[in-house]
Amino acid sequence: MSPMARSIYLKEEVASVPPGHPINLPNVKATESLGAWIGALLRPGDFVALTGDLGSGKTSLARGLIEDLLAQAGAPLEHVQSPTFNLVQPYSAGALEIWHYDLYRIDSAQELEELGLDEALDVGCVICEWPDRLGALLPGDRLDVALELASTARRATLHAHGDFEARLDTAWQGSPFQVRDNA
Ligand SMILES: Nc1ncnc2c1ncn2[C@@H]1O[C@H](COP(=O)(O)OP(=O)(O)OP(=O)(O)O)[C@@H](O)[C@H]1O
Ligand SMILES: [Mg+2]
Repeated sequence: MSPMARSIYLKEEVASVPPGHPINLPNVKATESLGAWIGALLRPGDFVALTGDLGSGKTSLARGLIEDLLAQAGAPLEHVQSPTFNLVQPYSAGALEIWHYDLYRIDSAQELEELGLDEALDVGCVICEWPDRLGALLPGDRLDVALELASTARRATLHAHGDFEARLDTAWQGSPFQVRDNA
């Protein structure tokens, strides 16, 4: 392929990537609310990948998601923090288990094997900070939430893959975050 043809091809490839659902998050409450909204979509076997730089709001979103599911299930409330040192923290929200991973400190393939990811997805759903650490173990069916700093606020973009696509598209119709995005 000539350099020019390749450049046109690459532009078309990039243009064909769906833009995702962008959401403005003006404050931490909005980040937590987005988490709660995502939590309501979840069922066992789901994987939610939270990406973004240090301080972009991953744990805040996980907190909103987990604390809301615990409250909805009437489970004892816990203050959700990042499992920075244990790498994973499970929660029981009634029938649904939620396993919260923070893989920032992963530094060996053996540690990855000991994470119990298959078991987590068998019995519940997974919320994962720093999912890039999983490499080839990253599930193909998943919801990606990409968080970015935007001045003093944050911005999220949702991308669903596989089984999650239709569910996200349906839920997105009429979601409160569409309104916020146009504000
Ligand atoms: N939408 C928002 N607007 C302003 N501040 C926010 C927003 N969302 C979260 N924050 C704040 O950003 C800070 C970092 O949030 P958080 O710990 O959730 O980030 P993180 O991505 O998990 O960071 P790390 O990579 O260190 O784990 C917190 O003080 C939190 O209150
Ligand atoms: Mg965090």
